[in-house]
Amino acid sequence: MAATPTSSQPTSSQDEFKMPVRRILPYLKPLKGRFILGILIGVAAACFNAVMLMAFQIIFSMVLKGQSQTLGTQIDLPFGINLNIAEILGIAKDTPVGITGVLIACAFIPVLLFTNGFLEYLNKYCLAWVGNKMLYAIRNDVFRSILRQSPTFFSSSRAGELMQTVFNQSRVAQSNAVQLVQLVTNRPLTIIAILATLFSQYPFFTAMSLFVFPLCILPVIALGRRVKKSGKSEELETGTMMTAMHESFTGIRLVKSYAREEYEVARFERANAAMSRNAIRWQRASELVGPIVESVASLGIAAGLIYWWWKDWEADKFITVIFSLTRIYPPAKELSKVSLLMQKTAYAVNNVVSLLDRVPDIRDVPQAKALPRIKGGVTFENITFSYSGPNGQPLEKAAVSGIHLNLEPGKFYALVGPSGAGKSTLFSLLLRFYDPDQGRVLMDGVDIRSVTQDSVRGNIGIVSQDTFLFHDTIRENIRYGRLDATEEEIIAAAKKAHAHDFIMQIQGGYAAVVGDAGCNLSGGQKQRLSIARAVLRNAPILLLDEATSALDTETERIIQDAIHQLTEGRTVIAIAHRLSTIMDADQIIVMRDGRVDSTGTHTELLASSELYQKLNALQFHE
Ligand SMILES: Nc1ncnc2c1ncn2[C@@H]1O[C@H](COP(=O)(O)OP(=O)(O)OP(=O)(O)O)[C@@H](O)[C@H]1O
Ligand SMILES: [Mg+2]
Repeated sequence: MAATPTSSQPTSSQDEFKMPVRRILPYLKPLKGRFILGILIGVAAACFNAVMLMAFQIIFSMVLKGQSQTLGTQIDLPFGINLNIAEILGIAKDTPVGITGVLIACAFIPVLLFTNGFLEYLNKYCLAWVGNKMLYAIRNDVFRSILRQSPTFFSSSRAGELMQTVFNQSRVAQSNAVQLVQLVTNRPLTIIAILATLFSQYPFFTAMSLFVFPLCILPVIALGRRVKKSGKSEELETGTMMTAMHESFTGIRLVKSYAREEYEVARFERANAAMSRNAIRWQRASELVGPIVESVASLGIAAGLIYWWWKDWEADKFITVIFSLTRIYPPAKELSKVSLLMQKTAYAVNNVVSLLDRVPDIRDVPQAKALPRIKGGVTFENITFSYSGPNGQPLEKAAVSGIHLNLEPGKFYALVGPSGAGKSTLFSLLLRFYDPDQGRVLMDGVDIRSVTQDSVRGNIGIVSQDTFLFHDTIRENIRYGRLDATEEEIIAAAKKAHAHDFIMQIQGGYAAVVGDAGCNLSGGQKQRLSIARAVLRNAPILLLDEATSALDTETERIIQDAIHQLTEGRTVIAIAHRLSTIMDADQIIVMRDGRVDSTGTHTELLASSELYQKLNALQFHE
C-alpha cells in the first residue's frame, strides 16, 4: 500500500465530518470490478421495479376483474402502452381468462419477487464483498501502522482505545460505508423508477403523493440533528469501555489482590451506562422515523382512496398504485437515515485514517541502509534527552544530559545509580526507542539514526527485568529471539540458559503452552526463558536489566551463571542493583540525576566515588 504520511495529528472537530475519500480510494482500486458490478446490479434492481409494477398491473387486471374478464380486454399500462393479450396470442377476443390464464398470471408473482430479491441480494453481496476485502486490507495496515509507532505514542494512548479503533471502528466504518453506497446508488433510482411509472399513468395522483414525501422527511431531519451527537460519543464510550475491560483483564492479579473487583465493575458500568444511554437515544430517534413515515403515508392512502372514489376508477388499479407506493416507503425511510449514517461513517473513517496515516516519531531516513553485524562498539556522544510531557512538549527536566561514554567491543559494563538516575533511558536511546535531543548514539562508529531501526535492534539482545511471555508454546517463546532457529538451536539455547532441565520437567516439555494449566512459570523460570531467547538472538550487544525483585540465592546463582554464558565475546551493558553481581565488570558507570557521576572498576570507584561508596555501604548493611 502507499502509506502517504500526511497529518500525524488526530482530526480536529472541524473536519471530523469530511470523508477522507482520497485516502480510502486506493483500497477500492483493486476491487473496482466487483464494486462497479455491484452498483450496476443495484441500478438494474431499481429499474426492475418499473417492470414489476407493469407486470402486476397486468396480473391484477386479469385476475381481479371477476370471472367474466376476457383476454381481449384492453389493459392500460404506464408510458401509454396498451396491451391486448388476445391480439398478441392471435386468438378470439372473447376468450375468457379462465383458470389456466389465472394460474399462469399468478405464477408470475413469485417469479417477479424472486428476481427482484435476487438482484437486491447480488447488489448487497457484491458491495459487502468489496467492503470486507477493504476492511481486511485497512485493518492490517492500521495494525501495522500502530506497531510502527514509537514508545512515546504507546505511553500516551490507551490499549483499549487502540483495539477499539482497529477492531470496531474499522468495522463500523466498513459496514456503514457499504450501506451508504448501496442506499445512495439504489434507493433514489428505485423511487424514481416507481414514481415515473406511476406518473405516466396517474400524473395528478402521483404529484400529490410527492407532496407527502417531504412531509415525511422533515421530522426525520429534525430528529437527525438531535442524534448527531450521540452517534459520535458512542464511539468514544466504546473506547472507554474497552479500556476498562482491557486494564482489568491484564491487571487481574492487582485487581484481585486489592479486592477491587467491584471498583472495576463500577468503572465498567459507567462506560457501559453511557453507551447504553446513547444507544437508546439513537434507537429512539431512528425508530421514530418508521411510525412517522407510516402515519403520514396513511393520510396519503386515505386521501387517495377518496380521490379514487371521486374519479370512479377501478379497484384493481388502486391496488396496483397502493402496492407501488408501499414499495416506495421502505427506500424513502432508509434514505432519510443517510445523513446520520454518513456522519457516523465519517467519524469512524476519520479515526481509522488518522491512525493509518500517523507518522511514527521515530522513522528511518529515506533509503536507510541496514547496519551489518557490528563488532560491538557503542558510543554515547554528548547525549541530552528529555521525555515528552502530556502536551507533546519536552519536559523541563532532562532524563539524561551530557552523557559521553565510549564502550569498547567485548567488554562488560555495569550501570549503577539511584532510582530515576537515567539508566533505563540509556537503554531506550541505544535501542532507538527515542531520539536524543542533542548528541548522537553510535554503533561501531555509525550513527544509529542513519541506518534502519530493525538493523540497529538486530544487533542487540535484551534481557529485561519484566519478562514478557506470549501465550504460546515454550518453544515459540524462545524462538522469538530468532525466527529461523532450528529445534536443536532452541534446545542448545535453553541449555545455556539453564532452562532445559525445568522445561523437561513440565508436562509437554517444549510444546507446553505458557500460562495454560500445568505450565505456570515462576519469576526465575520466566527469566531463564528470556535469557534463552537472548542466547538464541546471538547479538553482539547485550543489554541486561537486572530484576529488582530478589530471587533466592540458589536461583540467583543459576541465573548469574546463565548470564555469564551469554556475556562471552559480547559487549554487555548491565543495569545492576546488587553490586555483588558486577564486581568483576571491566568498567562500572555510576549515574546520578541523568549524569555520569564517575566511572572505573570496583576498586577504583571504592577509592574515588562518594556515591559508589554509599551504594556499596548500603548493600553490605543488607
Ligand atoms: N516515559 C517517560 N516519560 C516521562 N518521564 C520518564 C519516562 N521514563 C522515565 N522518565 C523519567 O526519566 C528519569 C530517568 O528514568 P529511568 O527510567 O531512566 O531511571 P532508572 O535509572 O532506570 O531508574 P530505576 O533504577 O528505578 O529503573 C526519571 O526521572 C523518570 O521519572
Ligand atoms: Mg530502570
